[in-house]
Amino acid sequence: MLVQFPPMGVYETLFKFADATSKYMGDHGTHPWAQGYPLTSQLPGGPSLPDSIALNNLDLKYPKATGEIELRSAIADYYNDYYSANITPDHVGVFAGGRPGLLANLAFLESDVCVALEETEYTPYWDMLRLLNKKVHIIPSNISNEFRPSDSDYDIDPVEGSKRVLLLKSNPCNPTGVALSPNRLKNMVEKYSQPGRGAIFDEAYEFYNDPKPMSAISYVKDIDNTDIFIVGAATKGLQVPGMRVGWVIAAEKHIELFRNYSSFGMGGISRPSQLYVTELLEKSRVAHARQAVCDFYKSQRERYQTGLLELGFELFTGCGGFYHWGLLPNNLTADEFNERLFKHDAGILPGYLCDMQRDGVSASPLDKFIRFSFGPLEADSFDNDMKILSECI
Ligand SMILES: Cc1ncc(COP(=O)(O)O)c(C=O)c1O
Repeated sequence: MLVQFPPMGVYETLFKFADATSKYMGDHGTHPWAQGYPLTSQLPGGPSLPDSIALNNLDLKYPKATGEIELRSAIADYYNDYYSANITPDHVGVFAGGRPGLLANLAFLESDVCVALEETEYTPYWDMLRLLNKKVHIIPSNISNEFRPSDSDYDIDPVEGSKRVLLLKSNPCNPTGVALSPNRLKNMVEKYSQPGRGAIFDEAYEFYNDPKPMSAISYVKDIDNTDIFIVGAATKGLQVPGMRVGWVIAAEKHIELFRNYSSFGMGGISRPSQLYVTELLEKSRVAHARQAVCDFYKSQRERYQTGLLELGFELFTGCGGFYHWGLLPNNLTADEFNERLFKHDAGILPGYLCDMQRDGVSASPLDKFIRFSFGPLEADSFDNDMKILSECI
């Protein structure tokens, strides 16, 4: 009675790892290089993470469908303070993480809208677009353009059978770490603010950008007159993937639609989680967190870059995110590499799982690519990480 559907690529890798090692990747003693989560502990020079929140009986009631006003105000203030966004809490819809916001956004697209996305992108986009049976336009992002599409690659006509185009883009990109320069982002926002165009800027890695965090919202003139959606989450920047809190910033009429969706499909998001995240967005704390995340992960990006290059990887990583994206040495495939890594309780994400054109049957041009995550790694794991990597190539 149900349509069969495979697990999302990252989880597929976690399940393979569990079968091979009888361990869950991320548990103590494993090397979770396939995993996309940040350290959930205090970073060097960063703020601590609260270890409790106070609740009373009123906090246990059903939460509001669009999100609690404390959190929506904190999010709106945050974007107004850092990006002069000129938004109110009515432009903010809260979801149980980034993915549920993305899925709801895509699910409500009208049938004449096609989705344009880069060839190498965030793994679950593939699942979402397949499940929702969307018409897609693929923007070249491969070894021949070094995973850096040109401006003209984003000049897209609606694909056959559709009339309008929605761009779906992670920025900085997961898996490549490539981020648009401020000027290119500005042009992209202008291009996709035109009639017949819309865009989802997925900014899960907003804080993880060198030299500083950035957001497409800086360049949106009047969000109510656009189909621009900014997706954010507490998952990476605020270091709390377990809280399951994400948000979409969009025109008020779109947020109203998400409220309606929540009323029948979601029932709101855990209020304790929302209260916790509201605390993390307190003004001086969030300023502190932005700086610490940016600084710590820049130093980790640079260290692992040097280490991986010395081992013979060819890297294509940009200036953002917490992944290295590269081609394996010695003609190894990512699956062969993982078989070796699993023996050390380690594993990477095979590059083909970020191939938005994969069909699971034919070979992918990304078979020999890997996404190496340094997100969950403590600063002192580097030497041991390099030892394992070196033994496995
Ligand atoms: C590009 C991108 N968008 C959104 C998310 C949101 O994740 P979550 O649903 O865990 O909040 C992630 C997390 O891996 C991501 O990498």
